[in-house]
Amino acid sequence: ALIGIDVGTSGVKVVVIDREGRALGQATVSYEVSQPRPLWAEQDPEDWWEATCAAIQLALARSGRPGEDVAGVGLTGQMHSLVLLDEAGSVIRPAILWSDQRTEEECAEIHQTVGFEQTIEWVANPALTNFTATKLLWVRKHEPEHYARIRHALLPKDYIRYRLTGEFASDVSDASGTLWFDVKARRWSDEMLAALDVPRAWLPTVYESPEVSGRVTEWAAARTGLRPGTPVAAGGGDQAAGAVGNGIVRKGVVSSTIGTSGVVFAHADEIVRDEKGRLHTFCHAVPGKWHVMAVTQSAGGSLQWFRNQFADAERAVAAQTGRDVYDLLSDEARRVPAGSEGLVFLPYLMGERTPHLDPQAKGVFFGITPRHTRAHFVRAIMEGVAFSLRDGLALMQDLKLPVDEIRVSGGGAKSEVWREIQAGVFGQPVAVIEANEGPAFGAAILASVAAGFFDDVVTAVDAWVRVESATLPVKEDAAAYQRAYRLYRALYPAVQPLYR
Ligand code: XUL
Repeated sequence: ALIGIDVGTSGVKVVVIDREGRALGQATVSYEVSQPRPLWAEQDPEDWWEATCAAIQLALARSGRPGEDVAGVGLTGQMHSLVLLDEAGSVIRPAILWSDQRTEEECAEIHQTVGFEQTIEWVANPALTNFTATKLLWVRKHEPEHYARIRHALLPKDYIRYRLTGEFASDVSDASGTLWFDVKARRWSDEMLAALDVPRAWLPTVYESPEVSGRVTEWAAARTGLRPGTPVAAGGGDQAAGAVGNGIVRKGVVSSTIGTSGVVFAHADEIVRDEKGRLHTFCHAVPGKWHVMAVTQSAGGSLQWFRNQFADAERAVAAQTGRDVYDLLSDEARRVPAGSEGLVFLPYLMGERTPHLDPQAKGVFFGITPRHTRAHFVRAIMEGVAFSLRDGLALMQDLKLPVDEIRVSGGGAKSEVWREIQAGVFGQPVAVIEANEGPAFGAAILASVAAGFFDDVVTAVDAWVRVESATLPVKEDAAAYQRAYRLYRALYPAVQPLYR
């Protein structure tokens, strides 16, 4: 068997798969995001580690396999978030998460000292509040006592690797999201590190995703139930690993994933850069390949916010019937016609990346009338998220990246109505993959190559990733979606001056 570990934003998910790529068991152990101030988002890396140990044990128990059967471990997780360790390898302060928006000033500083174009030249992307480097500069400016103790700067899954193997290592896809990685040459950017005055020694060794990065130690084996010596693949950022799990390893096959964030992801054989920086250009978890992605900050996160604040009724029903709150919300959305009868939602609760690159953006409901019910708000949220993903697809088409086939995944793809909304808004069928366990499954595929089951990632994907079914756009809804999308597009420029 193999295991994939996804150190996510809402929890750690571990999946155990057999030698045919079938899931034998999985477990998720959740934790919260702390928001000590507006726009901030932090987590304690120790919570990730404890959740990981618990989830590995639970997933092994559920799969009925002893830890000795595990031939390889694959790691993936939330990208960009900054973990700082001292000399002793202890965590210095809570991790500053990818979704944290406190670093607008640091972004401006980087563009001032390095220049916008030079930044894109060196690291293929502009300085965005999400990216790791900006978070480190914030710590340097605001917490010099913490900064002085730093010996290692790591990404979330790489912290878990450190606890599992004792190694400081990362992979090219996750490293791409730091802003100090030369995405074209697939190595740390000495130019950028020098320009930002960040020591290279703080950064881990970088591998291609399916390479072996270390082995489980005796200490970690005792805490997880794994066998000491089990190889741990370098793995990938959750988007790249998720794409591997979705079979996005060839030109023309694109995914749309609704997790906390929403991502449209395309494979690229050559590096493709958006000179305006609206799309991310990162290394793929397929060695020697790249990917381009569009990111909506708050996709599933928008519906989660609604559920937390306004879904007491559904929660009560869920508690009585054992049904999922999100299923109940989907049922409500289904009762509302496409276009939500004029109610439009901008999902910019945590600012927005693609296409606006605006950390100050905020959520908006527009067009409320007495006709609108709570169910309309649920549907408008789902539609607004789909519009935002469509903005990303449109940018890819601008860059001449073909979109021949779209595969949907993430929590959002579990909802039939949200799949229908995506198909309708994209004007294209959307397919789902059989037994997709998300990024954790992709990480397990990377582990299968590290463990020697397959020669390379594409062969593994061809053997294990199968399309299950497709949802078609409903023809009669096309005009309503088009009208709503036009309004959606006009809304941001109209309210943008009010955000500041
Ligand atoms: C990708 C990104 C998010 C996180 C979520 O650039 O910021 O998708 O990886 O876990």
